Amino acid sequence: MRKCVLAANWKMNHTSRDVRRYVDRFLKGLRLDDRAEAILFVPFPYLKLVADLLQGAKNVGVGAQNLHWEPSGAYTGEVSAEMITDSGARYVLVGHSERRKYFGEDDQAVNRKLRRSIDASLRPVLCLGETWEERQGGLTEKVTTRSLQVGLQGIRAEDLSTVYVAYEPVWAIGTGRHATPEQAEEVHTRLRGVIASGFGRAQAEAIPILYGGSTNPENTPELMRAPDIDGLLVGGASLDPEKFRKMIESGIEACGC
Ligand code: PGA
Repeated sequence: MRKCVLAANWKMNHTSRDVRRYVDRFLKGLRLDDRAEAILFVPFPYLKLVADLLQGAKNVGVGAQNLHWEPSGAYTGEVSAEMITDSGARYVLVGHSERRKYFGEDDQAVNRKLRRSIDASLRPVLCLGETWEERQGGLTEKVTTRSLQVGLQGIRAEDLSTVYVAYEPVWAIGTGRHATPEQAEEVHTRLRGVIASGFGRAQAEAIPILYGGSTNPENTPELMRAPDIDGLLVGGASLDPEKFRKMIESGIEACGC
């Protein structure tokens, strides 16, 4: 049985005052048993603060939104996997579409980051998805398969159990236009098939595949009911702690994990 994973991506939002209030409100009444996991992906300066505030909260973790592929060195402005773990974080987003679009990250760079995070015992969430033009051009399968295959290159089968995948169609991110459960399920099932051919059926069945793109409390249940959607990566709606907690609760219920 796969875990339900509900993750918040704060992107470049909040300052320390908001962070304290957020975590306080978020944790009020939140109960997660071992079948589910919640993750807050926060800006680098707040990793330690959030990790400290989450002390004692069960099945809730904190993650970074990016990392560099080298362990250390002359890379001004960059942050290493070791620095992230040192801050108390256990997760990292790799290859988010905003990193790909604004900072030129390609599948090869994403693969280097993914391997580095595994070497540093960080759990990576490999993000991938097609643009609207690619979908219209019938390229969804090609683009998402390539991003997955290149992203996972050089990963040993035994390390795959530390990886999560997030399917985030670029056209759905921040647009208010989410993929339908059928559209997302089709891609998730195919991605699981790609993992099965590279690493084996058992590995593919065990890996959580999250959906991201304009999710909210209203569309959470229908998306989470799809058998191959194991969780959500939530942007805008996760900035409100009560809204995000509601999505966690209804998502877990709909998922039946
Ligand atoms: P959104 O963002 O929920 O605001 O569409 C999702 C994401 O970018 O991870």
